[in-house]
Amino acid sequence: MNSNYIHLQHQSPLAQVTVLRMSNRSMVNYNYLVVDPISRKAVIVDPAWQIDKIDQALVKAGASLSGVLITHSHQDHIHLAKPLASKYKCPIWMSENEIAISNFSDKQLIPIDETPWSVGQLLIQPILTPGHTPGCICYLIGDNLFTGDVLFAEGCGLCSDTHAAYDMYTSLEKLKNRLAPHTQIFPGHSYGRSPGQQFSRLLRENMYLQFTTRETFAAFRLRSGQDRVKMFNFQ
Ligand SMILES: [Fe+2]
Repeated sequence: MNSNYIHLQHQSPLAQVTVLRMSNRSMVNYNYLVVDPISRKAVIVDPAWQIDKIDQALVKAGASLSGVLITHSHQDHIHLAKPLASKYKCPIWMSENEIAISNFSDKQLIPIDETPWSVGQLLIQPILTPGHTPGCICYLIGDNLFTGDVLFAEGCGLCSDTHAAYDMYTSLEKLKNRLAPHTQIFPGHSYGRSPGQQFSRLLRENMYLQFTTRETFAAFRLRSGQDRVKMFNFQ
């Protein structure tokens, strides 16, 4: 895996996505800076671990930070939300449900549902996708979907019990119905494949998108003997 902090850039007419690989000891998270090429306003998805890299990416992009998008409240996805909101005087967006279950609070926190809004020319479309947590949300911006721990290139997020796994199945079905095949998927973690894979490839190759009933999906997602380090090395 390339260890450079900016190792690829994806561009569409509506959004420029810079991938930031963030690490803290053995943990690695992917953060995404999404820039409107017209206004140079930017949002960051799930910021964690290395604020200097975000500052540098903003300077390099000639952009100003206009908000923090949070997919869910786990520490490795919210670590830099408050420091960035304070430093750049911008809002933090998180789903109402996730706020309710996490007790996350900040004076700049804005609870959201699935109502879209705009930052400059960027249209941000939230898609509620519970399962990994009850308030997980994905963000569709142009042809880019930011999935946190809902959908990875190689699999999907952990589920705590059968009810959560049923929710995850429904959320993945929702994404199948909603997304265009060429949508680029930007997850919070990589288990071998680079961020930005097309959804059409995941539909072919991601085992967790192959199930046709919630019961068979849940049995597979909750199977015993899973190795958290080699989480998706089952093929
Ligand atoms: Fe998580």
